[in-house]
Amino acid sequence: MKKIMVINGPNLNMLGTREPGLYGRETLGEIEERMRESAVENGLALEFFQSNHEGELVDKVQSCQGRADAIIINAGALSHYSISLHDALLAVDLPVIEVHLSNIYRREDFRHQSLISATAVGGIFGFGKDSYLLALAAAIRLLHDDEE
Ligand code: DQA
Repeated sequence: MKKIMVINGPNLNMLGTREPGLYGRETLGEIEERMRESAVENGLALEFFQSNHEGELVDKVQSCQGRADAIIINAGALSHYSISLHDALLAVDLPVIEVHLSNIYRREDFRHQSLISATAVGGIFGFGKDSYLLALAAAIRLLHDDEE
């Protein structure tokens, strides 16, 4: 069974109560549950990981080598400045899909650059919690195309 690692960075554990006007009222657990339902329907395994610590995120990305078939990642603020996360994603050589709940290009200038984008097959941003489900749909399509 193919496996997708879903990684969330700093402050995403606070979804539900964190700036709900911007990020919505759904908790990360609820979003993960919806992703899990969709994965089950598609015969895929998902693993979830969230950390507020850059090094732990780097460790988790590295652990994906040989253990996962794709990575879905919302690196939170680290998206905008973490060269080590960027390098880790390149090092594992797996298809990466970048996710953001908000449209980072409509926000402050410091959010307009993402160091994750250059490592990713593609990205989905601006659709709130649905960004994650759309990313999962993209990953499923990608892995399916791989099999053909
Ligand atoms: C975010 C956007 C980032 O700029 C911010 O730091 C986050 C959340 C998003 O999902 O919209 O933590 O990644």
